Amino acid sequence: MTTAEYSHALHTLVEDLTTALKTATSLEKLETLRTEYLGKKGSFTQLGKQIKDIAGSDKKEAGQILNKAKQQIEDLLAAAQETIATKQAWIDLTIPGKKPEVGHMHPVSQAMEEITHIFEQIGFTRVRYPEVDWDWYVFEALNMPKSHPARDEWETFFVDAPTDDQKGKMVLTTHTSNGQVREMERLHSKPPIRMINIARCYRRQQDATHTQMFHQFEGLVVDKGITIQHLKGTLDYFAEQFYGPGTKSRIRPFHFQFTEPSFEVDFSCHICHGTGYLDDKEEQKCRFCKSGWHEVGGAGMVHPNVLKAGGIDPDEYTGFAFGWGVERTYTLKEGLNLDDIRLLYSGDLRFLHQF
Ligand code: DAH
Repeated sequence: MTTAEYSHALHTLVEDLTTALKTATSLEKLETLRTEYLGKKGSFTQLGKQIKDIAGSDKKEAGQILNKAKQQIEDLLAAAQETIATKQAWIDLTIPGKKPEVGHMHPVSQAMEEITHIFEQIGFTRVRYPEVDWDWYVFEALNMPKSHPARDEWETFFVDAPTDDQKGKMVLTTHTSNGQVREMERLHSKPPIRMINIARCYRRQQDATHTQMFHQFEGLVVDKGITIQHLKGTLDYFAEQFYGPGTKSRIRPFHFQFTEPSFEVDFSCHICHGTGYLDDKEEQKCRFCKSGWHEVGGAGMVHPNVLKAGGIDPDEYTGFAFGWGVERTYTLKEGLNLDDIRLLYSGDLRFLHQF
């Protein structure tokens, strides 16, 4: 063997060790490597023995190269040992662990849970009906015959699907009122009915107070002897439960095809307590509501034609219904003061984390 070959073999050995040390992260692994290289049968030790094969005149130089390589190997192992020892010494077991981020229900889902709970307390059953439904349930059965102008109030998305002979076209539900006749059918036209239907609705509109997809909740009660008093009592109960004690409800005459009489429903403003003013002298108008009340939705006594469409005899039974948007109802809660409901669907975690 020439000195050059010997030197090359030693050099390769040192390089191999350098590579092996990169993945040696424990003292045990380091000891194994030390034995593999410097032990009695170790690769360096074996190579050291081969010096005898080198010609006499070159032996001195080869010996120097051998010593240098040994020193390098020892230095590498010592450095690695130091690194591992330092790292181990710095594991601080008292540092609190990293907590995985925990998500929570979307504010709109929270509102729906709360609404469900409030109505379940007084005997309503939560139901859900298709969000893509027949024209019949969305309009026709609700006393809105084809071509009736009242239909224009609902900016409807029509679905490109085959038309049913009896039930007409398919639409994305514009309101949860489609659940009224469906609920009458589910109960085989046999009251009592006390339903709360919460579902997604869709309309062709988008601005600070409207999103194309939103949620509504719809109440329907049908039984013998149901009157406006039951409706008003239910609205007052909801107002206090959802917005807090002292909140009042108000009904104003309005028109809907599916109720007679029909009303718009307002809740008293929690900031000015229904007065419309922030001070006793009535000089400072409440900016949140302007009039003391927030309009939230519609209600009324179920129209006889709707009961008939659900197979219920209007001479025997009466009912009330109400319905409005979950998002709108929710944003009026004290402390929320949300002026753009599109934020709810922005998917912005900086916003959502606040709820
Ligand atoms: N469906 C109506 C809308 O989307 C709201 C409504 C009004 C629901 C009167 C009712 C009701 O149940 O009785 O605007």
